[in-house]
Amino acid sequence: MRIAVPVEIDADEPRVAATAETVGKLIKLGATVVVARGAGMRSGIPDADYAQAGAELGDPAEVTRTADIVLKVRRPKPEELQAYRPGTLVLAIMDPYGQEAALAQMASAGLVAFAMELMPRITRAQSMDVLSSQANLAGYRAVIDAASSYGRALPMMMTAAGTVPAARIFVMGVGVAGLQAIATARRLGAIVTATDVRPAAKEQVASLGAKFLAVEDDEFRQAESATGYAKPMSAEYQAKQAELVVGHIAKQDIVVTTALIPGRPAPRLVNAAMVASMRPGSVIVDLAVERGGNVEGSEAGREVVTTNGVRILGHANVAGRLPASASALYSRNLLAFVETMIDKTSQAVSPNWDDELIKATLLTHDGQVVHPNFKAA
Ligand code: NAI
Repeated sequence: MRIAVPVEIDADEPRVAATAETVGKLIKLGATVVVARGAGMRSGIPDADYAQAGAELGDPAEVTRTADIVLKVRRPKPEELQAYRPGTLVLAIMDPYGQEAALAQMASAGLVAFAMELMPRITRAQSMDVLSSQANLAGYRAVIDAASSYGRALPMMMTAAGTVPAARIFVMGVGVAGLQAIATARRLGAIVTATDVRPAAKEQVASLGAKFLAVEDDEFRQAESATGYAKPMSAEYQAKQAELVVGHIAKQDIVVTTALIPGRPAPRLVNAAMVASMRPGSVIVDLAVERGGNVEGSEAGREVVTTNGVRILGHANVAGRLPASASALYSRNLLAFVETMIDKTSQAVSPNWDDELIKATLLTHDGQVVHPNFKAA
């Protein structure tokens, strides 16, 4: 059984899909692991560390050719596919929504592609939950980025020269990223408020020492789907929500938005008038920017400074801004999933196609797009 770890060819992707630690564990499971030379460099892992863990080092253009399993961060691009042999299992963050052509190309290349972000959020799969492992780091980094762009201190400081007031931070969307943003902002001494449409978030916000603010009507009480995600809210709810937060945002120094709805564009939570109501020097971080953005005027991969001096940070791949930590956690997520696909006795790759984790994540198989959400109609 050969497992390959390629270089991520996307210039915006510094993460890697295996660390020396996970390579060592894959080898213990009976695998031969081949890591492309330089694959870990941007995550601070030199080739020598992989070699010491027992990996073979290989030519980046060749490592996938003999692999049974390929571990990746991002979906292989069309130009990479000719280096994959049919039947290879490929595990990655596949970003499958709206990518029909790319999925069809993977299917034609014969890949057995798994989308890690579709992993069910059940207890057994917690260690494989890439959305959580990466969102947690993104939530932390969002506050660090905001703090570094903000021209004032976050904690209250009482000095001989006078008092610096504590910054006010508002976190919109309190899933995994939002909760970590609250915890980080609290540790840095800010006064934190937060909002979400799921009632479960209320208690979690309070337990972190922040204040919860939301329109708590009947729609709010039913906003959480059976899978634990938010449902899209009605136009009426959104109007009430905007009315509630408009005055609040005007008094904030930093706003961090994280609101997402799986498979849909991100909900618009902050409009241009709200941005304009903030004082110069305030900072907004839009963690949803790559999915259309929660904030009017945010741009992926850019910092936008509005005419009234509000900075809107639209960093892409925010977890990737902490590449070493993000790779360490992501690699363990992959290892945990791969482990379920290896027969302990024969040490061969043998996925159980009836396993709910496999069924939920499998995108392409036997030359077809097989996932019900992405099959051609
Ligand atoms: P997400 O990334 O899909 O969305 C982020 C947050 O935005 C969510 O809290 C969502 O309710 C909120 N949101 C959506 N629309 C909004 C709107 N219009 N206004 C304000 N907020 C809005 O969510 P994430 O972080 O992936 O977590 C989703 C849920 O899954 C949470 O309940 C989380 O606690 C749960 N979870 C469960 C796990 C498990 O293994 N059981 C693991 C990880 C998360």
